[in-house]
This record gives sequence, structure tokens and C-alpha cells, in this order.
Amino acid sequence: GSVSRYEAESAVISQGVVESNHVGFSGTGFVNTSNAVGPYVEWTINSASGGAATLSFGYANGTTASRPLDVTVNGSLARDELAFAGTGAWTNYLSVQIPVTLQAGENKIRVTATTANGAPNLDYLDV
Ligand code: GCU
Repeated sequence: GSVSRYEAESAVISQGVVESNHVGFSGTGFVNTSNAVGPYVEWTINSASGGAATLSFGYANGTTASRPLDVTVNGSLARDELAFAGTGAWTNYLSVQIPVTLQAGENKIRVTATTANGAPNLDYLDV
């Protein structure tokens, strides 16, 4: 089916700021979270019929260490410490995909940093 893009800069942000200093992002910028455990970005997305879906997170990580994120769907853990590997440069954006099950209508997708390095720079969620 068709993919909808939800920009990180339009999501709910806890302990992070919208920036645009590393070119290559989608939309008007990306979210740079604090380098800490606990910052999150939460998108509210829509699924007409619910059911199986693929979440694709666009991001950049200019370090060589993965920045794992916990992924919750409507408050339930969908993936523990999903890896966000280094992308080679802060200007190099890649995406990571996971399969999930959505409910019909609104769904809350939250990614939370699990290490002291915080999240990678988060660009978008495609569903
Ligand atoms: C650098 C980079 C930021 C990034 C940060 C980090 O400061 O410019 O965009 O978020 O490193 O390590 O998280």
C-alpha cells in the first residue's frame, strides 16, 4: 500500500530539539535528543484498517556506536533496543524497519533512547 511520512520535527519531543544543520534530512529538519537515557519522540499516526504494518525510521548517526531505541506501539513494547547503527556521517541518512501490528485509527509510536548517548538524529517515520 501507499506509505505516509510523519516527520520527527512534527512529533511530540521529550528532551530534544529540532535542528537543521546536517543537510540531507526530509522535511524541515530532524530531532536531536539529549545524550541521555530517556529522551523520546512520539508520533501519532493513522491506520485506516489496522493490522500488519512496517515502521521505517529515518535517521542519522555520525558516530560508530549504535544508538539503540525502545519502540512502543500504543504503550506496548514492540521492539527492545532496536539498533540504529552508525551511518558514516551526520549528513548521511538511512532507515531502519520493523514489522508491527497497528490498531484501526490513531496509534502512538514512541522511540526512547536506552543509552547515555541518547537517540540518533531522528528524521521521519514512514508507515
Ligand atoms: C553532534 C552532532 C549532533 C548530534 C550529536 C550527538 O553534536 O552535530 O547533530 O546530535 O553530535 O552526538 O548526539
